[in-house]
Amino acid sequence: MQNAEKVQICARTLKNKLPDGFSPSFGLILGTGLGGIADSLQEGLSISYADLPEFPLSGVLSHEGAFAAGYFAGVPLLIQKGRCHLYEGRTPEEVCMGVRVMAACGVKALIATNAAGALDPLFKAGGLMLVADHINMTGQSPLTGGDPGSIFADMSRVYDEAFAALAEAAALRLGLRLEKGVYMGIAGPQLETGAETRFYRMIGADAIGMSTVLEVIAARHLGLRVLAFSILTNKNLPDSAAPVAIEDIVQTAEECGRDLERLLRELMPDLAAGLEGE
Ligand code: HPA
Repeated sequence: MQNAEKVQICARTLKNKLPDGFSPSFGLILGTGLGGIADSLQEGLSISYADLPEFPLSGVLSHEGAFAAGYFAGVPLLIQKGRCHLYEGRTPEEVCMGVRVMAACGVKALIATNAAGALDPLFKAGGLMLVADHINMTGQSPLTGGDPGSIFADMSRVYDEAFAALAEAAALRLGLRLEKGVYMGIAGPQLETGAETRFYRMIGADAIGMSTVLEVIAARHLGLRVLAFSILTNKNLPDSAAPVAIEDIVQTAEECGRDLERLLRELMPDLAAGLEGE
């Protein structure tokens, strides 16, 4: 379970670097390929993870290591540019540090994004998926070892249905195809065998990736509302298994990241209004 003191120290340091009166309502985690959003913030500033005491750094080349703060479509955001992963040998505590720091800085909702392989044979590589639910197949939890009074967190409705409806409406307005499905979170780093892919599909997953589920569990435990999107970087089908190169996944994520950026720009004001109208 998270060292609350470390989170508070990081949050205090981060808050001190934010402009006076800046009060972020949403935390956004940018997965592979989505860095462009952080570059387009108004009044944006960047705070390197290396400047935050004990904040875990990611060694993954496709991930930057910094928070960004600023206005996106007029909405004040804190952005995590890059995350660390279990497959880097990181603990669930380290994987979830960013979410906990953003919550300590006052965000009320989390938007998580990731790159994922499509398990639903009807989904196209290059498409976007709204995460309707998840399966945590990592074998780990960020709540392990925490206060027994609170760790048995309810997970019956993890992904906020009102936010999801706003996302679907925004996609429709833009004429952007948005799949909806169950995200399977695995620890990785190896990609799946054909037998594993068949099994994951059989038990109800529509897309698969190596992030998000632990951060979302931590966010719900903290009471944040959650919305999540997958960029479908490749098709992952057991019976026509084609080798997948990580370089191709990163390239597709970068190309399709632009669609997700458009969607988020359209959607952000509606989400902000939805948060206020609670
Ligand atoms: N499997 C696991 N993780 C992934 C994939 C995949 O096919 N694509 C992107 N991340």
